[in-house]
Amino acid sequence: MRRPRSLISALISVALAVAGAVVLTFAAAPPATALDNGLAQTPPMGFNDWNSFGCNVDEQLIKQTADFFVSSGLKDAGYEYVNIDDCWLEKTRSADGHLVPDPVKFPDGIKGTADYVHARGLKLGIYEDAGTMTCARYPGSYGHETTDAQDFADWGVDYLKYDNCNLVPGTGDNQQEYIDRYKRMRDALAATGRPIVFSLCEWGNFQPWTWGADVGNLWRTTGDISDRWSSLKSIINQNLNLYPYAKPGAWNDPDMLEVGNGGMTDTEYRTHFGMWAMLSAPLLIGTDLRKATPATMNILENKEVIAIDQDTLGKQAKPIKNADGLVVMSKPLANGDTAVALYNSTDSAATISTSAKDLGLAGGSAYTLRDVWKHSTTETAGAVSATVPAHGTTLYRVSSEPGWAQYPPAGELSLQTQSGQGAPLVNPGQDTPVTGTFTNHGKMPATNVSVSPSAPDGWSVSAVSPPTKNEVGSEGSYTSKWTVRPPDDATPGSYQLPATATLWWDENTQKSTVDGTVTVVVPPAAPTGTHDLSDLPWMSATNGFGPVEKDTSVGGSGAGDGKTITINGATYTKGLGTNAPSEIVYYAGSARS
Ligand code: GLA
Repeated sequence: MRRPRSLISALISVALAVAGAVVLTFAAAPPATALDNGLAQTPPMGFNDWNSFGCNVDEQLIKQTADFFVSSGLKDAGYEYVNIDDCWLEKTRSADGHLVPDPVKFPDGIKGTADYVHARGLKLGIYEDAGTMTCARYPGSYGHETTDAQDFADWGVDYLKYDNCNLVPGTGDNQQEYIDRYKRMRDALAATGRPIVFSLCEWGNFQPWTWGADVGNLWRTTGDISDRWSSLKSIINQNLNLYPYAKPGAWNDPDMLEVGNGGMTDTEYRTHFGMWAMLSAPLLIGTDLRKATPATMNILENKEVIAIDQDTLGKQAKPIKNADGLVVMSKPLANGDTAVALYNSTDSAATISTSAKDLGLAGGSAYTLRDVWKHSTTETAGAVSATVPAHGTTLYRVSSEPGWAQYPPAGELSLQTQSGQGAPLVNPGQDTPVTGTFTNHGKMPATNVSVSPSAPDGWSVSAVSPPTKNEVGSEGSYTSKWTVRPPDDATPGSYQLPATATLWWDENTQKSTVDGTVTVVVPPAAPTGTHDLSDLPWMSATNGFGPVEKDTSVGGSGAGDGKTITINGATYTKGLGTNAPSEIVYYAGSARS
């Protein structure tokens, strides 16, 4: 019979130390009443295969990922757990009731795989389910908690993700039943004596943040993430106000990372990673690291962002402003600094601002602002502000330590063209005015400020206002004007118009620059005559579920997966397939009827 060996030896040594004699007590260990495993004092960091491999997990992938953690520097950056998700096991238990690792996928078993991972100074995680079957219909742990926990411990497992599929009727209908099911595995793990991080995965069904700290080290707050912006935005939104519940050893878990999987832009992936750090979320990489691009590695290995996630104070960021999709988050850090996220969930660039005072930092004459994505530091008289691209997040570490005067004044460059719906239009062959406003948020003056605009090849750019301003004082600004003209044959689409402000500081001895950008759209030729919309090019299209389809219904996943359009039994050969909320923008020029 398998027994908690380490527990018994602990009892022996305690008895010796206290009484000088061996007193053996064979009563079963009392059931734990709260999770007291001392683990996950900062949010767990590592890898999980599910987001990029689904059921295709095997020993080779886990071993290669462990090797890559070491060779790439991810291990040095703090990534530790290499976690196996669903589908690692055989479809039936052994005759004596044990889970059996799939011998084709895991020829060395979980034990052999764990040994390999441990030999590299890393830890191994595994997946099971609190119901009769896992979500992919492999045997679940319901009624087998003690056996399974002991097998995990014997194999050398360090982390268990415990899912919520295929519940036995009457054991999962209300919060108390959820708690009881998860506690059974908590106690079974505790009884093994092996330190095993316990990750609850009940998708936020019964407010696990209100009871999870007693039961597990982390708890999923939401349904499964997917690799698209709408999913990320919704999950962030659902986690914003859960800050009171996180603390060392007990974390909200908004799900594993999608960074690198290709369904989002790098700006969106930086928002994903940066907001996870602000939310004190586990950082479990969910991409095929063997194919990760330098851009992906840059995000995953950003030590300054990781330091915000792993801060030992263990406080989750609080939203201190949240209006119209523009969010300011504030997270106090152990050394007295404050991490601030300026998160733009809207579809166009926006200025997001707060102040040292609103962040609860007071008294300093100026502060340093460390931009942890750009790895640059500036000084501010108090404003904490940035022009943030659509779906982007500016992440600062704000400090009131002295020494700010050695850094350049914080500048902001905000660009605008003629206003309009969505991104402003610039017509081929026509001049469009652009303004660039430089604001000095620093305590020190900025001198010889100039703004130099640029545009894509073949476009012309002409200055309208004088190119420099002698001095811009604290919270002063300078607006520069120019025009841009796309060539007659410019390809329709959206373009970035960047500009750079150059300023001098420290009595005109040091130079610094600030970048800004604005998105503009070159419209397609305006249609003439009468057309079906599905025969015209749109300027932009967003859809609630999958892409908008032309002349078919919307399928919901990839392009071209729709069917013939039918409404109330009538079929249509022409039309657009959409799913609310959806917005499709066409350019009609001056011809509107
Ligand atoms: C659930 C979980 C996912 C993943 C799958 C595996 O959906 O929420 O994270 O573990 O099961 O089947």
